[in-house]
Amino acid sequence: MKEKPRKAAASATRKSTGEEVTYASYLALEELLRLQRPRSQPEHPDELLFIIVHQASELWFKLILHELKGLIDLLEARDTLGALTSVKRVNALVHIVTGQLSALETLPPQRFAQFRGYLGTSSGSQSVQFRAIEAMSGMRDEHFIQVLKQHGEIAPLVKQALAKPTLQQLFDDLLAAHNVTLEQIYAEPHQRPLQMLAEGLLEYEQGFGMWRFLHVQLVERIIGPGTTGTGGTLGSKYLQKTISQRFFPKLWEVRGKFFQG
Ligand code: HEM
Repeated sequence: MKEKPRKAAASATRKSTGEEVTYASYLALEELLRLQRPRSQPEHPDELLFIIVHQASELWFKLILHELKGLIDLLEARDTLGALTSVKRVNALVHIVTGQLSALETLPPQRFAQFRGYLGTSSGSQSVQFRAIEAMSGMRDEHFIQVLKQHGEIAPLVKQALAKPTLQQLFDDLLAAHNVTLEQIYAEPHQRPLQMLAEGLLEYEQGFGMWRFLHVQLVERIIGPGTTGTGGTLGSKYLQKTISQRFFPKLWEVRGKFFQG
């Protein structure tokens, strides 16, 4: 016989071992809080900040990837309002991960220099999740593929993202299914849901660009514009070039059409 809902809920509060589910066990806090392992000897007081901002960013990247997959599914299902709701959440997450950079702005250069050597050749440029986000959002150009190959085989997570259609492609397909052009969705009031989705995607790009911009500012503020990165790039000179990359070039271009002639 099926359990009644309340009984089922009560038994669900116990794990299969019979242990009570607590705040700490549900969130795996013991494991989570053991994962911050400063390498400096003696431990530098600012290394914990550096580790936690990076780890927290990777957690948010994990959620952004999860939500982007959901957004892709909704676009494939041609669910405009669902996609709009989804892109709003993605944008909120991108703002959070960008906001976190400000915590590292409190790290003065001379103090970072005191423990930077302990990072070895580790660098944010090896972040598989960041590359998967870029791939899922639509980066396919030659330079991007070169960057992916810099650390050997392309990671499976990134390969999966590359195998999916880009957000721009899915948005184009959605417009084709509605038999409208990008220009029409801005010009015709009854196309407002599609216009709002286009704006949501544009905001995603803007938010992502804001992360890139503030990250370069942070890099220059801490290691200066002329210092090479631990990942072996030209540091901020390399990062500056990434700021102008676009996931949705058409969404930017269409605006110009209203100012011609
Ligand atoms: C003290 C603060 C930071 C400094 C000095 C710094 C420095 C750098 C530098 C120099 C690069 C270029 C690659 C290299 O040669 O290493 C880079 C790339 C990168 N960093 Fe940071 N970073 C900092 C904080 C962060 C944080 C908090 C994150 C969040 C995860 C992050 C994620 C990344 C990513 C994803 C890249 C690759 C960007 C791209 O290729 O477009 N960084 N960082």
